[in-house]
Amino acid sequence: MNKNTLGHLRTSLSRKNAFGLLSGIALIGFSLPAFSHGHLVEFDQAIKLDANIENGKKLYKASCITCHGPEGWGVPGSGYPQIAGQLKNVVIKQLADFRAGNRDNPIMRAFSSRRSLGGPQEIADVAAYIASMPMTPNNEQGFRLHLQEGKIIYDKLCAECHGEQGEGDEEEHIPRIQGQHYSYLTRQFNWIRNGRRRNGDEKMIKQIRNFTPPEQVAVLSYVASLKPENVAPQGWRNRDFNTFDRSWRPMQIR
Ligand code: HEC
Ligand code: HEC
Repeated sequence: MNKNTLGHLRTSLSRKNAFGLLSGIALIGFSLPAFSHGHLVEFDQAIKLDANIENGKKLYKASCITCHGPEGWGVPGSGYPQIAGQLKNVVIKQLADFRAGNRDNPIMRAFSSRRSLGGPQEIADVAAYIASMPMTPNNEQGFRLHLQEGKIIYDKLCAECHGEQGEGDEEEHIPRIQGQHYSYLTRQFNWIRNGRRRNGDEKMIKQIRNFTPPEQVAVLSYVASLKPENVAPQGWRNRDFNTFDRSWRPMQIR
């Protein structure tokens, strides 16, 4: 997709009077950050390995549960994402990227480090366990008023990579984004756009660079509203961690 596509889309959206403010788009110039390929070796190794889910469960309990929670559902309205149900290769890619410093998060960098987590086999194991966890039926929603506009933008610009329903793509390690908490989607979208998240997809960055705030709100609200297939029933608890203290809350982060 190129700028013209977004232009056409804007024209058709404005005709529907969906966004009065769609003109006056500010083009914010910035230079693309250098992309490090150093981590790809570790990534390549980990995706080829046969994963041991049982071991993944142990690793999750030892190193991840205190922040991502026993269900892996994160915390709505905070910086903690839902990771349950994320595609295995995506989790592997993100862990390899945190380790390589391509994602700017000191906490995750420490917990995904070789010393804390282990090597490619451990990455593969914990990723397989996370991918097998069902997703929350109550993820944080965005703004319902704009869902229709959001769908139009999503179908035109995002579906080709993230899938019709935001289910992601295992082969291409493109994240599943359906059913994620709205605040987290917003945070990552901004960070990918402004280069703070250095592993952003170049084509995606080009495409979203000149999104207006209403367009962003619309499309991310729509993404948060998409229902994954692997959603847990209401009230579901992860029996793997029966003894975990359910009054748990991770520390506040921005
Ligand atoms: C001390 C808290 C903490 C611990 C422990 C922790 N995480 Fe995280 N994790 C976070 C935070 C905060 C983020 C969001 C990072 C960001 O915004 O860039 C995150 C993000 C992630 C992501 C990226 C999600 C996405 O969709 O972008 C993955 C995957 C992940 N964590 C997996 C793990 C695994 C696996 C472990 C255990 C080995 C773990 N985390 C341990 C706090 C933690
Ligand atoms: C050309 C393919 C492509 C297109 C088009 C695209 N994306 Fe992405 N997107 C990606 C890839 C690849 C990543 C993961 C980058 C990485 O490795 O961290 C990503 C990451 C994301 C993330 C962060 C997910 C997470 O769990 O951390 C969000 C949110 C997102 N995209 C939303 C969108 C939306 C909304 C659109 C449409 C406006 C869009 N993307 C268009 C390829 C694309």
